Amino acid sequence: MAVPHTMRAVQYSKFGGGASDLQHVEVAVPGPTKDQVLVKVEAASINPVDWKAIQKGLLRIFAPAKLPHTPGTDLAGEVVGLGPGVTSFAIGDKVASWTGTAIGGALAEYAVAPIKSTVKRPANVSAVDGAALGIAGQSALQSLRDYGDIKLDGSSNNKNVLVTAASGGVGTYAVQIAKLGGAHVTATCGSRNIDLIKSLGADEVVDYKTPEGAKFQSPSGKKYDVVIHCADYQAFGAFKPQLASTMAKVIDLTPSPKSLVTAGWQGLTFASHRFVPFLMKSKSDDLALLCNLVSEGKLRTVVDSTTPLSRAEEAWQKQIDGHSTGKVVITVGEE
Ligand SMILES: NC(=O)c1ccc[n+]([C@@H]2O[C@H](COP(=O)([O-])OP(=O)(O)OC[C@H]3O[C@@H](n4cnc5c(N)ncnc54)[C@H](OP(=O)(O)O)[C@@H]3O)[C@@H](O)[C@H]2O)c1
Repeated sequence: MAVPHTMRAVQYSKFGGGASDLQHVEVAVPGPTKDQVLVKVEAASINPVDWKAIQKGLLRIFAPAKLPHTPGTDLAGEVVGLGPGVTSFAIGDKVASWTGTAIGGALAEYAVAPIKSTVKRPANVSAVDGAALGIAGQSALQSLRDYGDIKLDGSSNNKNVLVTAASGGVGTYAVQIAKLGGAHVTATCGSRNIDLIKSLGADEVVDYKTPEGAKFQSPSGKKYDVVIHCADYQAFGAFKPQLASTMAKVIDLTPSPKSLVTAGWQGLTFASHRFVPFLMKSKSDDLALLCNLVSEGKLRTVVDSTTPLSRAEEAWQKQIDGHSTGKVVITVGEE
């Protein structure tokens, strides 16, 4: 496949803006360096971190490396170029990738992808699925398995798990992965999504706008061993009455300085419950595992919307609004 010299991309050139600051530009196709491949992007997905941390400039010491910046870290597409020395991929491979916060680049026709966080997708894993998995899928997997000790072999049937904001990109995967582990799953979401979250396998679903939902109460009175907290920051005390008496963990996906202080204090005082600030670390093994779960029909992506690159600002605004159900995906090359 001949690679052109220039491509369409979406960029912003200052920190602190919003969807209206995204510009459609024609720029040079990037060249892959050592340990990178060049991907013709078929789909990309947007995550909260893209606007609420990276675009706001909160990570500007290292991400993005420079402005103007082409945002988006999660993509799927076809390998069309190999960096020097790359032998683990071939031209024509269909891949999924997390490009990294410093590189971004997914909202474009072509993007460079580091091989350490890029995997070949099985033939039956669509570009939309591949693009959705990067941050959301890996966060759900790592928070449950690595911090919540949920084993994917189904042997965690003695665990009660709560997933908050279960209708979001992370939550829709987390409910399914916790069920693969055999756990009893309680989930919170808005009333319009209760049936969907039950269809993903949740045993009990609570409307977060009810008094019970606001207190994270399980309808059957279950006490949680693991909480995957995907909604906005809540102090540890809000969860405490609902936790199992020994060694319960609240994995906080929206950590703040307050959660770091709480976690530090609990560590110093050898507390029996733990508040665990979480940060996703992309690993090719985990991305490959998630692709395989999708390929085997054990994990499905809930897609909120697919929007062409030419209307990327609409998808960006949808993610900012915070009411998407599942993943907000951009398709590339179908306009
Ligand atoms: N630390 C990390 O490494 C890491 C990694 C990934 C994600 N995150 C963070 O985790 C959070 C979730 O990410 P995401 O991609 O899943 O977000 P998302 O897809 O934007 O989540 C949107 C969903 O959350 C629901 N929701 C919002 N507030 C809720 C509440 N209080 N209770 C129940 N449901 C609620 C919304 O439902 P309604 O429309 O009904 O309100 C909506 O369906 C974000 O804050 C993100 O930044 C952190």
